[in-house]
Amino acid sequence: MILHDHFNVNEKGHLTIGGMDAVELAKEFGTPTYIIDENVIRANCRAYRNAAIKYFGADALPLYASKALCFTGIYKIAAEEGMGIDCVSGGELYTAKRAGFPAERIYFHGNNKTDRDICDAMDIGVGTFVVDNFDELCAVSAEAQRRGITQRILLRITPGIDPHTHKAISTGSVDSKFGTAIETGQAMEIVKKAIAAEGIDLAGLHCHVGSQIFDIEPFSDAADIMVRFIADIKRECVYEIRELNLGGGLGVRYTEYDREIDYAASIRDIAAVVTGFCKKNGIRMPRVILEPGRSLVAAAGATLYTVGSVKTIPDFRTYVSIDGGMPDNPRYALYQSQYTALIANKASEPKSKRVTVAGRCCESGDLIGENMELQAAERGDILAVLVTGAYNYSMASNYNRIPRPPVILVKDGEARVAVRRETYEDLTRNDVL
Ligand code: LLP
Repeated sequence: MILHDHFNVNEKGHLTIGGMDAVELAKEFGTPTYIIDENVIRANCRAYRNAAIKYFGADALPLYASKALCFTGIYKIAAEEGMGIDCVSGGELYTAKRAGFPAERIYFHGNNKTDRDICDAMDIGVGTFVVDNFDELCAVSAEAQRRGITQRILLRITPGIDPHTHKAISTGSVDSKFGTAIETGQAMEIVKKAIAAEGIDLAGLHCHVGSQIFDIEPFSDAADIMVRFIADIKRECVYEIRELNLGGGLGVRYTEYDREIDYAASIRDIAAVVTGFCKKNGIRMPRVILEPGRSLVAAAGATLYTVGSVKTIPDFRTYVSIDGGMPDNPRYALYQSQYTALIANKASEPKSKRVTVAGRCCESGDLIGENMELQAAERGDILAVLVTGAYNYSMASNYNRIPRPPVILVKDGEARVAVRRETYEDLTRNDVL
């Protein structure tokens, strides 16, 4: 096993993903290619669902935060696994609808839903809007009235938690583009306005503290702050909050330095805070919604590349260049995210080198990692980067006019193309002049 149960080495010394030979997959589908082990995603959905129901009650619902990995087929998997989904744009909504995802289980997020987004979401009958701020509340209320409907909403509240994660992916502190803060008094104000607003059914509250978080404290602190706020609302507004969405953000093991997280145990610990407070304070237990993205899909993925030039600069370093890079995985360039790489066709050999894995873009920051432990690499080898299921394909670009790789789903010894490789024709499809 390498990092996670579904990454292994076979008798040929090749990396296997969900039991399938990565070198054979690279041969069949070309490189670069995203490989996703569907069984891992399904097992993670079940683990979240079972734990949510066990610890929060039968009506608890985990949503898949689909920004982590978005294509039509993933919404079908989420639907089959009884999940709800979090969408953040018209494009995600469109894709979910194309997959036939039940609209009442869609939560529509985003700090700046355009008027068109609001209309599109109402057209498809999105179950719940997560309203970010006062301005948006007015816009949603106005459109709902125009249509003569009542739109169910949650309000995104900023609990004032600053988890220890990269600044760009931390979202729960007061000074944030997301949500309305309790600390400034504005959260109570927006709650009152939402209760009074025409065309609006205020079902509950939402918070999300950040992403790739390993400690349980930011989550349990946020949960504690949110249930206290629910108690304040009950007292001050004589209004019962029926639903509490605690967001996503649990971390994932990318390298052997990251510890493994027991998601069910984390959910149990967060539930203890919520149920304990509600019991003690005579508050009816709200329906709890969880919203994981990364922890459902990251570990399921690996990206396969072909090694090109290998260049050693004496006294400096060795660059191992691959046929992909920041266009298919911008996370090292953006956040210095650490990954585990190996040579898939030499997986049983020792990692004897420390190298920089470089992409093929005209940009020195186009790296997948520095100081990465790797087997001795040479032109033609297949390099695998593990745990790329989240925020890789969904953040991919066409920088340097490089076509995006395909997404291949593997399951029970079978590999299926879920998203085909982009062609040069695809790249020029919208060029009018
Ligand atoms: N809910 C909300 C409102 C969110 O903003 C996010 C992530 C999630 C749920 C899911 O969080 P997760 O369970 O995946 O941590 N591009 C960055 C991650 C940005 C996360 C944005 N929001 C990265 O590559 O690390």
